[in-house]
Amino acid sequence: MKKIIITIDGPAASGKGRIAEYISKRWNLKHLDSGILYRIIAYNILKKDINIDSIKDIHKFIISDTKLSYRKFKKLRSEQISKIASKIAVFKFVRNHVNNFQREFVKKNLKNNGFVIDGRDIGSVVFKNADLKLYIDVNEKNRAKRRYKQLIDNGEKSIYHEILKEIKLRDKKDKLRKYSPLVKPYGSHMINNNKSFENTINQINKLIKKI
Ligand code: DC
Repeated sequence: MKKIIITIDGPAASGKGRIAEYISKRWNLKHLDSGILYRIIAYNILKKDINIDSIKDIHKFIISDTKLSYRKFKKLRSEQISKIASKIAVFKFVRNHVNNFQREFVKKNLKNNGFVIDGRDIGSVVFKNADLKLYIDVNEKNRAKRRYKQLIDNGEKSIYHEILKEIKLRDKKDKLRKYSPLVKPYGSHMINNNKSFENTINQINKLIKKI
């Protein structure tokens, strides 16, 4: 039987992760979080004390980074890592590194599993031929409120207005970057995630049932 690929794109703190996890459980698909890969690279850059203002040093690290893998841990969600991840995600060589990893991973496992993959360029660049493409839409204030709560729940100090400012800045970076900017992918379905989670998943389940 053909294994399906569902892509989920959307801005920072739009709820892509929670939605992807829900779809993964409900429809028995493997969940791939592409943001985690950028965050792992950011974490390793920080750990190895690499100068984040030097493209040359980052490039050298990327070439040597043969062991990119999924390893989720709490620290990856900190604001410090978010900032570095956002900074390095603009480089084409970083994006190629992450994209190659994702494509290889899916190719290797697609016989056994379908996938739900979330990020900023998944339906527009990485898996253009996905069976279903979703774009998650939520206004900035709702996103800032949710991110704020997430950080407080993780035990971090946080100020709502600072988070809102960061989200606006990150949106700008994601949408204006030269390589793979955040766009609504061609052929994708816009999902309104401003209301309840139940409302959101109802919209999505209707679409999945059609494929
Ligand atoms: O979704 P997230 O906040 O975990 O993503 C972390 C960073 O990685 C964020 O700055 C955007 C970037 N990213 C990206 O450029 N492309 C992706 N497909 C996923 C994430």
